[in-house]
Amino acid sequence: MCGIVGYVGDNQAAPFLLEGLSKLEYRGYDSAGIAVFDGKGIRVEKSVGRLAALRDKIKDNMPVGTIGIGHTRWATHGRPSDRNAHPHTDCSGDFVIVHNGIIENYLSLKEELIETGHDFKSETDTEVVAHLLEEVYNGDFVSSVREVLRRIEGSYSLVFMSKKHPEELICTKQDNPLVIGIGEGENFIASDIPAIIARTRRTYIMNDGELAVVTKDAIKITNRAGEPVTKKVFEVNWNAEAAEKGGYEHFMLKEIHEQPKAVRDTMSQRIAKDGKSIVMKELKWDADYLNSFRKVHMVACGTAYHAALVGKFYIERLARIPVEVDVASEFRYRQPIVDESTLLIVVSQSGETSDTLAALKESKRLGAKTLALTNVVGSSIAREADQVLYTWAGPEIAVASTKAYTTQIILFFMLALYMAELKGSQTPEAVESLIGKLKEIPAQIGETLSDVEPIKTFAKQYGFNEDVFYIGRSLDYEVALEGALKLKEISYIHAEAYAAGELKHGTLALIVEGVPVIALATQKSVYEKTLSNIKEVKARDAVVIGIAAQGNTDLEKYVDHVIYIPNTDELLIPILAVVPLQLLAYYAAITRGCDVDKPRNLAKSVTVE
Ligand code: AGP
Repeated sequence: MCGIVGYVGDNQAAPFLLEGLSKLEYRGYDSAGIAVFDGKGIRVEKSVGRLAALRDKIKDNMPVGTIGIGHTRWATHGRPSDRNAHPHTDCSGDFVIVHNGIIENYLSLKEELIETGHDFKSETDTEVVAHLLEEVYNGDFVSSVREVLRRIEGSYSLVFMSKKHPEELICTKQDNPLVIGIGEGENFIASDIPAIIARTRRTYIMNDGELAVVTKDAIKITNRAGEPVTKKVFEVNWNAEAAEKGGYEHFMLKEIHEQPKAVRDTMSQRIAKDGKSIVMKELKWDADYLNSFRKVHMVACGTAYHAALVGKFYIERLARIPVEVDVASEFRYRQPIVDESTLLIVVSQSGETSDTLAALKESKRLGAKTLALTNVVGSSIAREADQVLYTWAGPEIAVASTKAYTTQIILFFMLALYMAELKGSQTPEAVESLIGKLKEIPAQIGETLSDVEPIKTFAKQYGFNEDVFYIGRSLDYEVALEGALKLKEISYIHAEAYAAGELKHGTLALIVEGVPVIALATQKSVYEKTLSNIKEVKARDAVVIGIAAQGNTDLEKYVDHVIYIPNTDELLIPILAVVPLQLLAYYAAITRGCDVDKPRNLAKSVTVE
């Protein structure tokens, strides 16, 4: 997720570009840049690091001009660096662009363009767009941009500027946000409303496929077919802070609702076009490489550890490779049996958790091959590991991890399938069937998010209890662990997750009248067993909220309430089952007046041991 801005008008462009980017840093902040037409050429200034580094670089020599574009980056392809920072240009510097999203076919386009003599300066997918425009340019800016859009695949918000057309900016979008701010003698373009709200509250919200030609006095919008589009002006009545959260009250709620897109982006480019296999361009493993490992060992903390537990289940079930899982703070101190026959996988949203980084370094010292699953390109863990798989969830601002967890799980599922194909432990039919179900997950998450009212009601009803229990068996237990952590860390309720079959070995003593128990009962293979554990707690007059797959109305006979989630393969259900638990924690925290995005005693990234 990146932030893009554009300006054309009577005033200097640079001040708005920098001000707008400062309001979009929550969308990405590993590098920034601006480009301004100064009457002769387009001056591009960019810098790795936060926007402050760019400001510092140009403060004594601000670019001059009244038309320009800018970008603040969240790296997906190519680590954070000056040369990977946007804006990107073609060979001649006549065309300059900024981009938010992922150009999925950039590698093949880049190869073609290099063959025709284009000289690339960066490792990014975005730069391909600038050279493609140079390649197809026919003298008409709009039709040339349309030809570029016909050839690229993926998700994008793009702003184009050209020395040959110094009065206008062209912007367009597909699956990424883009708004146009309507000014007096000036107009603004941005990924999101926060960037322009200080200049104007009158906006056009762009739709997929629409293309706008923006000059200082006019905004001409056409659809994919080139036909004029008449748009209603959207008057923004948010305050600036609410705008950063996209209108949501907290970043956590915004990020919960971003999960369909985050999961879709993480899956993109990793499923073969024919839907029959998983593609892991970053790994390039073969069967011999995989068979050289006696086991997989996973290490992580907190939510990432819970995702690793699900990853263990997937790899053992699908690829039949033994997997151990440790919390990072324990791993190093028990003399783990790790050597060159171990594939060590670390999981970390931030890529900076010191316990996890230390475990990674220790494992490398012991001879293990290492793979990192992380959300931050160029993070310490990403740089330390031998290989890296990125979740493309975009920045996660709230301390409580949500979209990182679901994207980590989806990535583990794809990794397990990839390993299974290499080992031949699953038939091609089974793999294709599971991929078919995988593709439905983003929409099913959206369906789960479509009706939060019952969960709000439960949170109000039970939000003041001091003890809540989460129980489940098999994958339901792994998800129960994550649900309990969410509730604990943002509502400060003492929540505990327990393997349902383990209750009678002690914890049942704590179950008394009125104690809320969240019972996950989505795993068909152990449903009857889970049901007997639910009866155990009901016999002690607990209040039971069941989590069940749609269609399983049987559960209603045994619990007080049921929250249904869409049905899918029981291996994939954890990605859906966790969503109501995230929402339950969120609304319980609201009920208790807690600071949802910044809970007491906690930090987003724990960089101390
Ligand atoms: C989860 O909601 C917490 N923020 C915390 O447990 C977190 O998952 C843990 O600190 C690990 O962080 P990482 O994924 O950035 O390594």
